[in-house]
Amino acid sequence: MSANASGWGGGYVTDVPYIPGYYRHQSPLHLNLACLIGGVAGLHLAPGRPLSYLELGCGRGFGALALAVCNPAWQVLGIDFNPAHIAAAQALAAEAGVANARFVEADLATFAADPASHDIPEVDVASLHGVWSWVGDAVRAGIVGLLARKVRPGGIVHLSYNALPAWQGALGLQRLVRAAGERLAASSERQVEAGFDIVRTLAAAHAFHLYGNPFVDSLIERSDHRHTTYLAHEFMNEAWRPCFHADVVAALAEAKLSWVGSAQLLENFSALMLSDEVRSVSARFDDPVMRELVKDVCLRRGLRQDVFVRGPRRLPTSERDAMLGNVVLGLMCPEAEFDWEFKVPSGSAALEERFFGPIVTALAQGPRRVSELLALPELSRHDNPAELVGMLVGTDQALPLLAPPGAPDPRIILFNRLAAKHFVRPGNLNNGSALAVSGTGAPVPCTMLDLFVAARLDEDKPPDVASWAAMLGQGQPETEQERLHGFIEGLLTERAPLWRRLGALAAPAR
Ligand SMILES: C[S@@+](CC[C@H](N)C(=O)[O-])C[C@H]1O[C@@H](n2cnc3c(N)ncnc32)[C@H](O)[C@@H]1O
Repeated sequence: MSANASGWGGGYVTDVPYIPGYYRHQSPLHLNLACLIGGVAGLHLAPGRPLSYLELGCGRGFGALALAVCNPAWQVLGIDFNPAHIAAAQALAAEAGVANARFVEADLATFAADPASHDIPEVDVASLHGVWSWVGDAVRAGIVGLLARKVRPGGIVHLSYNALPAWQGALGLQRLVRAAGERLAASSERQVEAGFDIVRTLAAAHAFHLYGNPFVDSLIERSDHRHTTYLAHEFMNEAWRPCFHADVVAALAEAKLSWVGSAQLLENFSALMLSDEVRSVSARFDDPVMRELVKDVCLRRGLRQDVFVRGPRRLPTSERDAMLGNVVLGLMCPEAEFDWEFKVPSGSAALEERFFGPIVTALAQGPRRVSELLALPELSRHDNPAELVGMLVGTDQALPLLAPPGAPDPRIILFNRLAAKHFVRPGNLNNGSALAVSGTGAPVPCTMLDLFVAARLDEDKPPDVASWAAMLGQGQPETEQERLHGFIEGLLTERAPLWRRLGALAAPAR
């Protein structure tokens, strides 16, 4: 029987709280870039300027809180129907003294029609990560109703979901994991383990729908390394249903939302995504939604990260470029580790060194405005801020910032310390997290291990790598503790200077 069959969950997993995480695509600074790259007016972002942000299905609220702490002038609101999530988010907000974030327990299926929703302000940005394809029709309708009432004209909506046709070959896998798991175990975490056990056995026996499909193979392979909590929320929901982009676009049109591009910035550059042959087919259609269907049929992408605007305002290129020129970028890796080549669906792409080389060298000194970077005299050319921003941010090697950082204040240090204390566990060191920062408006994406190390460095004691490795490697063989020790040493030399440059570390270099 389903662990979630009775009560208020409507078939969504409720017996185990979701993992805390930070997803950079949800940041308004990042979504603003997706709009500008798509040629559409984004947000008026500036240090100290108010913005209203709403996250629907916010889980434990870590992402919403990180954005709130980094942007004291913003009002941040998270909604989720799981009281364990809301209680955790409210407790961290209170403990860390985050006064500009609020969390409300409400069921999205009914909230839009509930008088309690009248208190929710009009918002500039709404984000739903990991919600849409995991909930049923009534919840989706409620979400659209809420967006229709609460997103201001010109406001942005970010929505991620499992996409068709990528997931079509995995429908049998998902159904089997859920149905088998429900019969073999009680809690949804044990169910998903038991379900995948059956799937692996059948895949090894070359079950037709579980073997030889690269997408299905990768799901089975990854299930070995993923936390059971994540897997339970991914696979054990009764209403889970992947969607075609065109159907999501049609649903959101009810809220007067228009699709403007992908929050995975590289996906907006069709030369990187599609071969010439496919692009010539795509070019036969004027309709961007039709072109996305061609793309989805050709690409493997199983998770779409769509960006919508309520009343998009198309910008002349000169105006769009001026707005992109105003964006500040911070480098996210040491210069020596910068990747000049990366894999893309159409093959591999190489960044032109005569253009990007001087830009990366300048960014290695500290955050810089795009207009300043484009004016560097050494550049082979001085045009195309969309390409500059798209490639550097799209490969996760740069982060958009509101301004260069200030020194972290005690609020920031406290938040990072509390996040490390509450969330870092020996079993989740590679999970995604973030470091709060002062002044830039942009939490720095990192792993749980990074968060732990950065928070310890800010404790004003000399680094004690041996005891950190022992603590994090608890119960693991000595070799694992040695591996962790070496890894942490690497973070201190390579990452700590980077965190300092991005304003995420107060402690001076030792
Ligand atoms: C996969 S989790 C994603 C959480 C968070 N957005 C993240 O990415 O970490 C989906 C979230 O949607 C919430 N949810 C599911 N159905 C809901 C409903 N009917 N009303 C409100 N929240 C819901 C769940 O409780 C859960 O926190």
